[in-house]
Amino acid sequence: MSKLTIQATAADPTVAAAASQFLAPIVLGLQALTVNGKQAHWHVRGANFIGVHEFLDTLVAHAGGWADEAAERIIALGLPIDARLQTIADKTPATAVGAGFEQSADVIAKVVADIDAILADLQAAIDGLDEIDLTSQDVAIGIKAGLEKDRWFLVAHVAE
Ligand SMILES: [Fe+2]
Repeated sequence: MSKLTIQATAADPTVAAAASQFLAPIVLGLQALTVNGKQAHWHVRGANFIGVHEFLDTLVAHAGGWADEAAERIIALGLPIDARLQTIADKTPATAVGAGFEQSADVIAKVVADIDAILADLQAAIDGLDEIDLTSQDVAIGIKAGLEKDRWFLVAHVAE
């Protein structure tokens, strides 16, 4: 009787390592955004309150979904991802979002700064993966398009 062996992943180990290298910072940044975005959602006050308060929740939901997508791309290639809370805190830049109530224009500027840090990691992933793994690059491109749209929705509350 023959016994079938199934490889855990179809990915080349070099490709998997590169995808992990470029996608892991994106997972951590987006996970941080889900936490800090909620902080902003709860404490925003002032102009356009309802719009900003509600949109921050939409952003949090999107960030969680994108983190899942990037993390599961790494897992699909056969590698783990360390996205424990302490690791996220150690490896992502500290948010400027405050510990208490803040005016909406300030909250927006601070959340946009967090978004821009993730967008820089996404661009690095798109550039770095271009000749290594187009499938992982496609994940980064899709997330970048969505995050840039959410950035616009946020900035439009305060844009002239
Ligand atoms: Fe809420």
